[in-house]
Amino acid sequence: MSNPGGLVVARGIAEMRAAIAGWRAAGETVGLVPTMGALHDGHLSLVARAAACADRVVATIFVNPAQFAASEDMSAYPRREARDFDLLRDAGVALVFAPPVEEIYPAGFATTVSVANVSEGLCGVHRPGHFAGVATVVSKLLLQALPDVAIFGEKDYQQLQVIRRLTRDLDIPVRIEGAPTVRETDGLALSSRNAYLSEAERRAAPALYRTLSETVAHLAGGVPAAQALGDGIAALTQAGFSPVDYLEWRDAETLAPEPQPGRPGRLLAAAWLGRTRLIDNVPVG
Ligand code: PAJ
Repeated sequence: MSNPGGLVVARGIAEMRAAIAGWRAAGETVGLVPTMGALHDGHLSLVARAAACADRVVATIFVNPAQFAASEDMSAYPRREARDFDLLRDAGVALVFAPPVEEIYPAGFATTVSVANVSEGLCGVHRPGHFAGVATVVSKLLLQALPDVAIFGEKDYQQLQVIRRLTRDLDIPVRIEGAPTVRETDGLALSSRNAYLSEAERRAAPALYRTLSETVAHLAGGVPAAQALGDGIAALTQAGFSPVDYLEWRDAETLAPEPQPGRPGRLLAAAWLGRTRLIDNVPVG
């Protein structure tokens, strides 16, 4: 186990478990923040949230091959480990678990966690297999660390609901907390993928959040859903997004279409600017 400047870096599951067992023996609580690295202020807000509700924060950095399709270039995913370690150390993280692929998926690995219903629709349609990859690795990370609480961002809203569902269904004794989306001043949700945007695309990108906000206002003002959503898709197209994968109004918890009256809703969108796919979502009602 290496220890650059006070941050413990574990590459193996056993090392991480030993450190956590030591804290548990001392009566301390543990908060987990899973990430794929290339950290930004959105990730660091999750770390701050974990620090506020647990004695020790464990962050994980693992670019998970199981959640990338063959057509998605995983090797192009940004990797900035040394900088990430500095940020996590400064944020007061006690341990970072940054395993090699073979520690998570050793030879012979054959199990997939697949969550029905909430994984279907929305990004599930456009990224087949993605949520099974997320559900599998998150199940493993939760069982490896067995934290008191694990924090995930609302930025990836469907992912958050998939994780809530699998934790309940598999009786994993961990509290799942969702944290609000951190945005640039112009509204664009922070994302590692924003780095791929050209200058012109970056100027167009805030239209995603703006359109979501306007569409929520139209729905709240009584505009029929089909019209409000159609106008929203037109606004995104006008702003330069193509294709718009979806703009949909869903039940905030089950993600079922057309929330029943009185149930909280969520408006979710995914759309492309050039070669970059952006997602965002906002509460409705
Ligand atoms: P990654 O994209 O690195 O995101 C890690 C966590 O940061 C997720 O919970 C995500 O929702 C949160 N996050 C990202 N951008 C955010 C923002 N602008 N504001 C607040 N939170 C934000 O999501 C993943 O990694 C992976 O799928 C993972 C859960 C680690 C499984 O591999």
